[in-house]
Amino acid sequence: MDVKAAQRLQLSAVVQPERFGRRPPFSTCRLGVSREPQSLRVFVSPMMMRRRTTALEVSSSYDNISASILESGSVHAPLDEELILKNRSQETQPYLNGRCIYLVGMMGSGKTTVGKIMSQVLGYSFCDSDALVEEEVGGNSVADIFEQHGETFFRNKETEVLHKLSLLHRLVISTGGGAVMRPINWKYMHKGVSVWLDVPVEALAQRIAAVGTNSRPLLNYEAGDPYTRAFMRLSAIFEERGEAYANANARVSLKKIAIKLSKRDVSELSPTDIAIEALEQIDNFLKGEGGGYAEC
Ligand code: S3P
Repeated sequence: MDVKAAQRLQLSAVVQPERFGRRPPFSTCRLGVSREPQSLRVFVSPMMMRRRTTALEVSSSYDNISASILESGSVHAPLDEELILKNRSQETQPYLNGRCIYLVGMMGSGKTTVGKIMSQVLGYSFCDSDALVEEEVGGNSVADIFEQHGETFFRNKETEVLHKLSLLHRLVISTGGGAVMRPINWKYMHKGVSVWLDVPVEALAQRIAAVGTNSRPLLNYEAGDPYTRAFMRLSAIFEERGEAYANANARVSLKKIAIKLSKRDVSELSPTDIAIEALEQIDNFLKGEGGGYAEC
């Protein structure tokens, strides 16, 4: 965010990765809000994360990428992928002009893992809107917030967080899967560029079944084995939300990336493959702005 705008908005601290010398792997943000008479102070403070030591590791095979890699956040990108990613981000960056990127998509679609890679390569900071809501509610987990205060309370907090984020620049934001359902949230997200990570429900169910549904209150109701439970519930949720996700400026369809890269299945795609495609779709959108939907 530029200094004048920050002053206008009274942003007391903004993460600027360039300030740390060499570009850090990624930095996450904390939203701080202090209410003073007549003013609302919004600030983002840096939480530097451990260097991604695997950044230039050469992986000999894609075959070991498990269904849950996007959930685990473990990333091993081969050197050629890293170079493509870097070139791609260098092309996109001038068109972005500091605008935030909002990743939208279903639970388990990899918004956080892909978002961290994108923030790193763009020199942006990374924000997870669920984590910011948790912070605002005194550190309670999303599951606890749902249990203690109900979904509407969570959704109101989510909207507040998106509002505050919409005042900032140079962030990649992973949004909660349901954020797309409120038109007011779109008003905030359209301040930046929004990207839908479109992952087939079967793949989502596999990933979520692998890590469990405890942290995802909306998936805890169904009976049956973890995969079937996740699949049934996610299918119903996607039915309700499909159209809302399509409001995004760009769509990244994992099915289409898999075809393009001649993979048998979307589970063979690496988070870096997806980040590269996301940047390409953002680029298409920005170059043709006003010209409609950029789709993979
Ligand atoms: C939700 C998704 C979750 C979290 C909450 C509700 C949803 O975020 O916001 O459990 O309604 O789809 P993730 O998409 O990051 O899992």
